[in-house]
Formats: sequence, structure tokens, C-alpha cells
Amino acid sequence: MIEKDLDKFRSITNSLLEAEKKEPVVKPIPAEQLLQVLDLGLEENGIEDEELYLKLQEVVMKTPRTATNQFFNQLFGGRKSKAVLGDLMSVILNNSMYTYKVAGPMVGIEKEILRKICNLIGYGEDADGTIAPGGSMSNFVAMVMARDAFKKDIRFTGVQDKLIVYTSADCHYSIAKNASLMGVGRDQVRFIPTNEKGVMLIDQLEKEIEKDKVDGYSPFFINVTAGTTVMGAFDPVEETAKIAKKHNLWLHVDGAYCGAVIFSNQYKHLVAGAEKADSFSVNAHKMLGTPVTCSIIVAKDKKYLSNSFAADAKYLYQTDGDDYNLGKTSIQCGRRNDALKFWTLWKSLGTEGLRNMVDHQFYLADVARDYIRNNPDYNLYSYDKSISVCFNYKGIPAEKLCTLLYKHAELMVGFGSFQEDEFVRFVTINADNGKEDIINFFKVLEDFVEKNKEELFNLNSINA
Ligand SMILES: Cc1ncc(COP(=O)(O)O)c(C=O)c1O
Repeated sequence: MIEKDLDKFRSITNSLLEAEKKEPVVKPIPAEQLLQVLDLGLEENGIEDEELYLKLQEVVMKTPRTATNQFFNQLFGGRKSKAVLGDLMSVILNNSMYTYKVAGPMVGIEKEILRKICNLIGYGEDADGTIAPGGSMSNFVAMVMARDAFKKDIRFTGVQDKLIVYTSADCHYSIAKNASLMGVGRDQVRFIPTNEKGVMLIDQLEKEIEKDKVDGYSPFFINVTAGTTVMGAFDPVEETAKIAKKHNLWLHVDGAYCGAVIFSNQYKHLVAGAEKADSFSVNAHKMLGTPVTCSIIVAKDKKYLSNSFAADAKYLYQTDGDDYNLGKTSIQCGRRNDALKFWTLWKSLGTEGLRNMVDHQFYLADVARDYIRNNPDYNLYSYDKSISVCFNYKGIPAEKLCTLLYKHAELMVGFGSFQEDEFVRFVTINADNGKEDIINFFKVLEDFVEKNKEELFNLNSINA
């Protein structure tokens, strides 16, 4: 039976690959019409295989295409075939990563990835990590470890101190959300202002910490971002580490977006001092081209991982030691194998190949910035050494431009805002792209504006 379905998988995938070449952006179905356009309903009785295949193919063909050279909407993109191969194998194998008994060599694969990431950061032998379901959850893991490191019994007694989190005003929303999930509370998050490049102001950080101490609060956690979500800015790790040490606070580097610079000789300096941080996260599903999700969180001292996440369960842990039963250091119980897809990619390209991917993304961003700087119809809002290229074109409101490009199935690109400005956020994260794809993006955008002048310069509506 599986053979027949795998044959069908192959044929639907081939159709999709062909369709992607002709139509890199799929015409969206208006959300409110979705249930009329596609048969998504679940019924009491099942359907014949042939009918199922047709319905599946229809849904696949209408789904947004994230692997093409016209998708720039989020902080991931492209399709690395060796990583896809690994991911497909993990679906076929269907292991769960909590024990060696059930996951076997997959445990070794995950441990190898974690060890290599720790080495790249510059952590020593005491370091270790886990793979979490996304960068938000990696940040959560870090915050929980920090809370438990702050006070020995807090995981039993619950949060009674007025714990305070420090992060920049431009950090990812998961920092505040996690503070709320942890019972610390969103109001206990201090958002430190940033400079004109989106980098956290360190002297302000220290002032806030000192003030909070005087006011009877308990600072416990500083987050710095390696690649802020909109501007792609890097907070200074080295300087923050000094403050964290002085005040005895946990320092976490949220490298979900651009922490992969640890692979690059040219850009590693953007996280200089990372080895002094207590924890570091990086999403392989962003700069490292691995299918969503593969988020790695490592701690300088592995004792904090087991301190916060180990739990005894006779029904689960029945063979092998804690070192090989990865459930002892993860937030989940049953856990998908997110390691294999990254391993097949890494094994195939080598560390050198991943380094080239990272460097190439910065090169593509340079291409985009050069294009913008040489064309007076554009305004550039972002800075060098970032793979987020933020701009406006001919003064057209970014929301309107991005929404119409999407509705007309021309380009998938999003908008963002920073301080007073709103702009198109163009992200050069798809390392499958070349210089010509970047130039093509601007040409498609410019042609579209030329053809749709009336609609675009009419300020009242964004409806296509
Ligand atoms: C800086 C930063 N941290 C965390 C996240 C969250 O990662 P995920 O989407 O994998 O939860 C993002 C996502 O864009 C991010 O940019």
C-alpha cells in the first residue's frame, strides 16, 4: 500500500515542481472563499484512493510556494534537496527522539549536530543542547533554564520573586510571550531602546538593571538578538556579556534568524563573545536551508538543561543512560526527528558548504543594496551586514505594494516597520538564488508598479 502512495507522492511532486517553474507565485484563494473553492471537509465515510489523490493534488497546487525564486516573504525559503531527502526519511522511519531505544542512531545524529554547533560557538566540553520546535520555543528553553539557575527551588515553588527580563525593543515577540507563559509576566519585560541601526543600547541596559535592583526587582535574564526580525541587526554580545557577568544574570543569544553566522569566517565577528553567553539558539530552518522546523538551543553548561527538563518516568526510560535518552533534556516528551534533515544536508555539503551558504546570503543582500542605492526611485532603510534589505519604492506605501504583489501572484514579500518608518522587508535568505534572481525581483516589482499605477497610487484601497 505504501508503495502505491509513494508512487503518487512522486507524481504529485513532479507536477508541483513543473508548476513552480511556470508559476512561481500561486494565485491566492481569498481566505473567506477557501471552503467554497476546495473540498476540505471531513465526512463520516471515506473516499476512494483515486479521488483522494485528485483532492490532495488540488490542495498542493493551490498552496503558497515557498521554494521558488519569487518567495521572499519570511525568514526561510528555497529547497535543499539533501535536507528534503533526510526529512522524508524521518517521516518514513517515524522515530521519537526521547529514547535511544526508540531512536537509535538518530540520537547519535542529533548529538553530533549539537556538539558541532557548540564547537562553532566556542563552548567547551560541558556544553550541550536540544532541538526545539522553533526559535520561539528555543527562547523559551533558555528562559526556563535562566529562571531555574536564578533560584534553586523555583521550579518547585513557582515564581514568587519579581523576575525581570531585559531585551531590545526590536527583539522577536517570543521573548514577551515566553515571559507570560512562564508566569514572569509581560509587564516584567524591559524593552531597551535601540540605535538608528536597531542595535540595543548597552548603557541603557545597565541603567535599567541598576534601577530595577534599587526598586526591589530581581533581574535574571538578558536576551540579545543575532539578527533582529525586521532589520537583521546584531546586538553586541561581548559588551552585554560583561554586564551579565557583573550583575550575575543569564545571557541568551537569540540567533534564530542569523545565529548561523557562526559558520562564517567573514561574519562570525557579528556574534563576537558568543562563547561567553549562557545559551545560544540558531534556526537551521532559516539561514541553513533546512525544512521547517529545525531549531537548535545549546547551553554552555549542560547541567542547566537537565536541571530544568529532566523528569523520571519508568514507563519511558528503560534502557541506556541519560546521555543517550534525549528526552531528559527536551521540553517535549514525544519529539519529531528534526535532526536527520539537517544532518543529511550538512554531511552532503560539509561545514564548508554551510559556510558558503551563509556568505552567499550576505553577498545577495549586498547585490540588493547596491541596486537600491543606484536607483533614485528607492529609499533604503536598512544597513550593511544584514540580510534584511528594507526599502520603499516611489513612495508607495509598503503594505499596499506587498499586498497587491501577493494578490496578483507576482511576488511574495512582506513589509515591516522600524521606529517611524514602514517599508518592504526583502530577505535574501534563499541561498539557491543568484544575483540574477535578486535583480529579477526588482524588475518584476518595477514592471508591476508601471502596469498598476492607478491602483497603487490611489491611496484609498489595497483591494485588488
Ligand atoms: C530573532 C527571532 N527569534 C525567534 C524567532 C522565532 O522563530 P520560530 O519562527 O522558529 O519560532 C524568529 C522568527 O522569525 C526571529 O526572527
